[in-house]
Amino acid sequence: MKKVLLIGADGMLGGELKERLEKIYEVEGTTLQTLDICDRDAVMKKVKEVNPYFIINCAAYTNVDGCEVNYELAENVNGKALSNIADSAKEVDATIIHISTDYVFDGKLDVDKVYTEDMEPNPVSAYGKTKLLGEKNVEKAEKYYILRTAWLYGIRGKNFVKTMLRLSKERDEVTVVSDQHGSPTSTTTLCEIIEQIMEKEPAYGIYHSTCEGFTTWYEFTCKIYEYAGIKTKVKPITSKEYKEMYPQSSDRPFNSKLSKDKLHNIGINPKEYKEALKEYLKEELK
Ligand SMILES: NC(=O)c1ccc[n+]([C@@H]2O[C@H](COP(=O)([O-])OP(=O)(O)OC[C@H]3O[C@@H](n4cnc5c(N)ncnc54)[C@H](OP(=O)(O)O)[C@@H]3O)[C@@H](O)[C@H]2O)c1
Repeated sequence: MKKVLLIGADGMLGGELKERLEKIYEVEGTTLQTLDICDRDAVMKKVKEVNPYFIINCAAYTNVDGCEVNYELAENVNGKALSNIADSAKEVDATIIHISTDYVFDGKLDVDKVYTEDMEPNPVSAYGKTKLLGEKNVEKAEKYYILRTAWLYGIRGKNFVKTMLRLSKERDEVTVVSDQHGSPTSTTTLCEIIEQIMEKEPAYGIYHSTCEGFTTWYEFTCKIYEYAGIKTKVKPITSKEYKEMYPQSSDRPFNSKLSKDKLHNIGINPKEYKEALKEYLKEELK
């Protein structure tokens, strides 16, 4: 049985992934309490002790607006700490699976076009900048998969779907941004992609890893309410109007559409976002 060191095992993605992988692999999970990835010595020690085949990093500082005000923390966790993971992986010849983000792109690409893995990143937010630094550090290890995901939601964490479900109980109308385009991705779909990457071990590199299909936050909210049988009205607003309402909020890309061609070419076909949302709501509203 292959050994897996799963870092960030109590996060929204990490928690679900741990439960699934334990059925197939020998998994050692760590949390911020048991392994701070910014502590180089501790990371080295843990990796040598576990001697894993795969190191999966689900740990990150994921508060996008928080990254703007706590830049140093974001840079340490999302960026510099990945050197610790890459160097320790090299010591034991382990393969890294690291989760990154659509926010490495500036989103200025025409909305009828999609970002491919070989396009030049140009992050506009502190979160995106620090996650790109993390990617660069992971790339120093030769054996790695960087999986860029987007608009992630899952049973175990705070997320957009849960927020919209909560707001529907508090308000008659919600206002949602309608000019940002991307692919909402369930943690379950991302777990399925990760499992297939582990099984197939394709060529090392970056893989865009989201659900299929594209939408806007506004249209996604309409789908959440439609599938959940909620009558709350959804009012579209522009990113500019949103920024006027919440001036502290970080800038987000208008176009977050990631091409899945590279995944398709290795025989991985993620779920469509509407299907993944229906499955999630079945569980969430149980
Ligand atoms: N959520 C999204 O919409 C989204 C979109 C694109 C990409 N991603 C990426 O997907 C991955 C998983 O995201 P997620 O939403 O599952 O994140 P999450 O729920 O916030 O989990 C991240 C985990 O990392 C832990 N952590 C923070 N600092 C750490 C440190 N120094 N050492 C060790 N652990 C630390 C956190 O612990 P505490 O909770 O105790 O701080 C938390 O358990 C991340 O790489 C994220 O950047 C997420």
